Amino acid sequence: MTNRLRKPYIAGNWKMNLDRSKCLALVKVIKGRLRDGNDREVGVFVPSLYLADVSAVAQGSPLGIGSQNMWFEDSGAFTGELAARMLREVGADRVLVGHSERRQLFQEPDSWMSKKLRNSLDHDLLPIYCIGETLDERKANRTDRTIKRQLESGFETLRAEETHRITIAYEPIWAIGTGETATAEQVAAVHKMIRRWLVQRFGEPAANMVRILYGGSVKPDNAKQLMAIDEVDGLLVGGASLQAETFLPIIEFDAR
Ligand code: 13P
Repeated sequence: MTNRLRKPYIAGNWKMNLDRSKCLALVKVIKGRLRDGNDREVGVFVPSLYLADVSAVAQGSPLGIGSQNMWFEDSGAFTGELAARMLREVGADRVLVGHSERRQLFQEPDSWMSKKLRNSLDHDLLPIYCIGETLDERKANRTDRTIKRQLESGFETLRAEETHRITIAYEPIWAIGTGETATAEQVAAVHKMIRRWLVQRFGEPAANMVRILYGGSVKPDNAKQLMAIDEVDGLLVGGASLQAETFLPIIEFDAR
């Protein structure tokens, strides 16, 4: 039984999957199954193109609607990009920052992360800051160094009084979409290290406000076990969030 200081947070990252009608149908099902949102927070990160429609369907429920990315300037010559205030305007209340696919496939550098986090908070778009090591980094015992580098670069401008608005997702890259989940020991060790870093940086009360999620091949049959790890405050789910049959059992994990 975990001693929960923080409300559990289950998030679905739909990536570049599902067409408009499937997004709307899935949001309708999730909305219908959510209770008042008092004992857990649920959010879905949808293709930005569908944000307005999806948030209209989610209206009136505690379901959070988020974008999978954002740019850190308010306006200007940034072809193809979307500003935090634009995402807010079409109903998003949260955003993923630094997902490993953005970092790896689209070469997003560490130096953008603190600007994105700063701008998202300034526009009241609650960020999930994604961090995680590659398989090579883990094999070379460089996991801690990588995670600390990502924390340092992301949290450069953040203040202790803002930590309650920030969520971190630890997603080991080797566990994303591979069916290979990190072991409970591996997850606990990295989450503990992240918490220690936060305590050093912000002091204990502020550090304890930050939720730390795990992501990487989360499925209905491992969600409860992952949520039973003391250091895990929630889950960021990719593939299994694309269908009600697999996402609802994760959302409805039994906390007892
Ligand atoms: P999978 O759950 O498909 O491994 O994806 C994890 C992820 O990248 C969530 O952001």
